Amino acid sequence: MSAAQMAIRPILTIPDPLLRKKAKSIERVDAELRRLIDDMLTTMYDAPGIGLAAPQIGISRRLIVMDPAKDEAPRTPVIMVNPEILERSDELRVHEEGCLSIPDFTAEIERPAKTRVSYIDREGKPLEVELTGIWSTLVQHEIDHLNGVLFIDYLSRLKRDMVVRKYTKQKRAEAL
Ligand code: NI
Repeated sequence: MSAAQMAIRPILTIPDPLLRKKAKSIERVDAELRRLIDDMLTTMYDAPGIGLAAPQIGISRRLIVMDPAKDEAPRTPVIMVNPEILERSDELRVHEEGCLSIPDFTAEIERPAKTRVSYIDREGKPLEVELTGIWSTLVQHEIDHLNGVLFIDYLSRLKRDMVVRKYTKQKRAEAL
């Protein structure tokens, strides 16, 4: 597929209610889904970001794309259809997280250091992987999006409300 056929989709930002919806499972991996995957990758790399979930572009389906590699590294994204966390370690890991739906805000979030995940790949093949480090954080962050959960939900209520208020005000100002 040529680059011209792939589209950058607009990314929803908070407080868009679509970001809070539980996404539906995907029934089949077909050409249409692969086109959506390509658009998500184009959108993620353009942003730039290291992960993107379908609900962030307004598609309420269980699909995520990830690539935490630095710019210089070759692009080897991981695509997960209907990902599910099977196991989480007791051991935790802190990582500074950000989100394309909450631009210019980061916070240190503690999550399980290891996760075991099942998913279907781009070819429709079911797989299982154990993820550690940045991958463990990333997959949990993206799967949260499929359940309407954002990383600011792990902050204190006070801090989260402050963030949401700031973006709500900003959007209102932009709309004027
Ligand atoms: Ni995010």
